[in-house]
Amino acid sequence: MQVIRSIADMRAWRKTAGKIAFVPTMGNLHAGHLALVREAKQRADKVVVSIFVNRLQFGQGEDFDAYPRTYDADAEKLREAGVDALFFPDERELYPRVKQDFNVEPPHVQNELCGAFRPGHFRGVATVVSKLFNIVQPDVACFGKKDYQQLHIIRAMVDDLNMPIEIVPVDTGRADDGLALSSRNGYLTEAERAEAPRLYRNLRRIADALEAGENDYASLEKSAIDDLAANGWQVDYVEVRDADTLEIGHAGAHRLVVLAAARLGKPRLIDNIEVTR
Ligand code: PAJ
Repeated sequence: MQVIRSIADMRAWRKTAGKIAFVPTMGNLHAGHLALVREAKQRADKVVVSIFVNRLQFGQGEDFDAYPRTYDADAEKLREAGVDALFFPDERELYPRVKQDFNVEPPHVQNELCGAFRPGHFRGVATVVSKLFNIVQPDVACFGKKDYQQLHIIRAMVDDLNMPIEIVPVDTGRADDGLALSSRNGYLTEAERAEAPRLYRNLRRIADALEAGENDYASLEKSAIDDLAANGWQVDYVEVRDADTLEIGHAGAHRLVVLAAARLGKPRLIDNIEVTR
């Protein structure tokens, strides 16, 4: 595996590499990230993974400084997974003027769901992903459904800005008890880790009811919010949305997604389940 630090070296490598699949990450890699790598390997001649903790997508008071940086273990996992190139850029080169003056501004959906609680987050994500796309110039890029709103915004960005990149969604990797794998799970205490699957169980319960034909989204959402709140969670939202547009799902919609974000102790956990009926 080639470790590439500079933008010039990344571009030079790209020119020789044929069809490329790209997996952008912030590191602290787990089995969810490695599922993206496996998908990427099926789709191209060469796989590039990036590790970059992107300051631009963290708000004031969020965990940018504390975000787990585990480069050596990450590089080892990627080597074992058969990744061809690891792009590990320097922040000073990616953000030469420190402040990014030109940004990719997503439409209104950036202010909904997670965006309502993390102002500017999706602008930071869209901006860094488009910078990384300009540098790596992949043919294919893999994103996890775990970050459903992020996936939605990246797909819309690629369509609206005519980027010649196929976006491949990958199913959420989970622990045996259902908890979605996340770098932020490492912040949970032992007791919180035992409590954490309640988020998935509530989403599952709503998904089952929707599959059975239930259309009273508000009461499904409320019962999940109440159950979480009664067990020590601070809930940002639990919402049933249209899976394709992320707009409020209308009664009788066929493709829905149930999304939630809630804090348990220190970390804020997110999860979602798609429903087709
Ligand atoms: P990060 O949180 O490191 O996630 C990198 C990729 O892994 C994203 O596409 C995310 O959806 C996916 N992923 C994370 N946990 C997953 C799981 N349990 N199952 C499946 N996929 C999972 O998302 C980011 O980084 C950043 O916002 C980034 C896109 C790199 C831009 O900075």
